[in-house]
This record gives sequence, C-alpha cells and structure tokens, in this order.
Amino acid sequence: MKSLSQLVESVPASVTATMMQKGRELAAAGKDVVNLAGGEPDFNTPQHIVDAAFEAIQAGDTHYPPSFGTPELLAAIVSKLKRENNVDHITPSQVLVTPGGKWALYIALAATLNPGDEVMILDPSWVSYAPMVELNRATPVRVPLRGEDGFTVSEQLLRRYVSPSTKLLMVNSPNNPTGRVLTRAEIDAIVAVAQEHDLYVLTDEIYEHILFDDATHHSLAAEPGMAERTLIVNGFSKAYAMTGWRLGWLAAPAPIAKLARTYQTQSITSAASFTMAAGAAALNGPQDVVHRMTAAYAERRRFLLDALEEIPGLECPPVEGAFYIFPRFTATKKSSLEIAGILLEEGLIATTPGIAFGQAGEGHVRFSFATHMRDLERTVERLAKIVPNL
Ligand SMILES: Cc1ncc(COP(=O)(O)O)c(C=O)c1O
Repeated sequence: MKSLSQLVESVPASVTATMMQKGRELAAAGKDVVNLAGGEPDFNTPQHIVDAAFEAIQAGDTHYPPSFGTPELLAAIVSKLKRENNVDHITPSQVLVTPGGKWALYIALAATLNPGDEVMILDPSWVSYAPMVELNRATPVRVPLRGEDGFTVSEQLLRRYVSPSTKLLMVNSPNNPTGRVLTRAEIDAIVAVAQEHDLYVLTDEIYEHILFDDATHHSLAAEPGMAERTLIVNGFSKAYAMTGWRLGWLAAPAPIAKLARTYQTQSITSAASFTMAAGAAALNGPQDVVHRMTAAYAERRRFLLDALEEIPGLECPPVEGAFYIFPRFTATKKSSLEIAGILLEEGLIATTPGIAFGQAGEGHVRFSFATHMRDLERTVERLAKIVPNL
C-alpha cells in the first residue's frame, strides 16, 4: 500500500480525548470512575435554547443554511461583540459561524498561515493549538510561562520568542488549563509586542463568561490599534452548556474573514441549520442561565481549592476563570503522565497530564470541575490517599 499523509501521521491524537475515552471504558467495565479529563459542563443546555432548535426543525429549517451563518445569528454575534466586549468594528461579513469553536480556530489558522510562518503559543496551552498549527504547515513556537511566576505573560518574555518569521500569537483567556485570566498589564504587553512586530493575534475567548471573584475579561480586539490584527474565536459549548451542538464562530479582519469563508465553502459547507436558531436564542435571550452555571462552578472551585490545600504534596495556582484546576505535584519526581496513569488506575480518577499542554505544564495535572460536587468530593477523598504515596 502507498504511504499515507506524513503530516497527519506526525500529529498526536488529543490526549484529553484519549483520557476521556479511557475513563469511559473503565466506567463501561463497571468501575467507579470519576471522569474529570474532559472540558464539558455537566449541565443540560438551557430550555429556551433547546426550544428554539425544536421550533426551527418543526418549521422546516432542515435545509442547507447560508454557509457563513444565518443573518439572524450573524447579527446576534455582532451585537454581542458590541454589548459584551466593547468591539464595535465587526460587521456581519466579518463573521463566520462554524461547527464548534475548534473549527473556528482551525479555519482562522488555515486562512492566515503559510509554510515557514511561526506561531507563538503561550504554554501551558490547550492541547490542540500546536497540532493545528502543524496541520496548517506552519511552526508552533512555544513560549513557556513559568508556574513559579503564576503563568504570567510579560513583554520581555514575548520579545525573546519573536522572530522575523512570527506571524501570529495565540492567546486564551480565561485559560485552559491554568485558569489564569490576563490582567490589564498582560493585555498591554501583548498589544505592544503585536504592534511592534506586526503580528496577528488570535484570541480564544470561549471561557469569557466563566470568571471568579473580581477577575475581568478584556477583549484584545477592543484595544486601540488591534482591530486590523485581531481574530476572535468563541463558541457556545462552555457558556451555554452546548458542547454536543457543535457551534462556534470566528470574527476576523475582512481579508482573513474572506479567505476563511472560501475555506468553509470548500470544506464543511456550514454548521447545522437548526443549531444556528439555538445560537441566536442563546445570545439574544436571558443571560441568567450563564450566571447560574458560573455560580455553581464558583462553589465547586472554592471546595476544591480549600480541600486540596489540606493535602500535602499538592500546590494549586489560583483559579481566576474557566473550570479547571491545575495543581502541581510537589512531593514526587514522577512525570505528569505517570501521575495521571496512577490516578486513573489506582484512584479511578480520569485527568489530563500537564505535559499534554506543553513542557511548561510538566509536574501539573488538570482536573475539570465542570462536574457534580459529589464527584469532586470522591476525587478529594481518593487524592488524599494516593498523593502521599506517589
Ligand atoms: C481553550 C479551548 N478553545 C476551544 C475549545 C473548543 O470548543 P468547541 O469546539 O466545543 O467550541 C475548547 C474546548 O475544550 C477549549 O478548551
């Protein structure tokens, strides 16, 4: 047989998906597994959003929709950007509705990159960023943020990794896996370096509503001078508990949006028609559903942070947003992969090893707390027994 794609062969499968699958298999074999490997709200999609999709299907909205999104959803996204993010330069023609935020990220990279381009990724970073850059024949340059410094971004650090080939910087705040939310000073640092080196910035804002205490989300596209160079990716999965609907979007400078739209028509055509009615209902409807889910995450986060503080050998960085806790295992020399293996086999807790998020995540393990309090209590009980023997 002839050889297959060397490019695709060179890319690893998503560790998060693998760990989730292992957890599911153990559960199917009758094991009492707590699955904290994924990034999936345990809530059902709010009823008014479900109703909107049902109504759309009943009304015959089961044909090919406009490839880039229905006018109703594009308008809802444009007004959401103005209302919530202070971003007022985006027109409907600069928006592309996609099946999931993940495809919005992919298509943004596909529309922007050429072979030889470098993309700076702030590590620890979401597992798919670097593989997506590689699949688009560009080179990921991992900028290691130090746990000791609270995973903070500085102008000095960014400058160290910029080269004449750097085209784009990927930013994710609130962050998966660290739970960090970029401060005003960090936003200023990114803006300064992007403008000085003529970089595009791809900002993944999928966790923007999941904020704790007094953390504030700043949209990079709203910063002076950033409209022409900022690509915004967002989606419905996290804020509205809509992971299975596969719905997200890209809002980009006009020339990039134009190419992304071409790519979409020649690849997946569109997101599913009736999900778009649901998306418009989510953005235009009451937002108390989002606040209620975030309040539940806040309670779970408090519980976990307090409980893990009592377990010697674990050090938890502050969690300012998103729904992950990313403790460092301080009393063992074992790798994060080994630790995650032991947690799964001995503790029946499925997690994601820190190394999946780049070398800067080594020594850490990610636990999702978008799950029931009962599961978190069981997790803490099991950790208290396992961690001292690691
Ligand atoms: C940082 C980040 N970006 C994007 C996504 C993509 O989400 P979706 O494709 O479900 O919209 C995820 C999902 O886990 C994520 O954690």
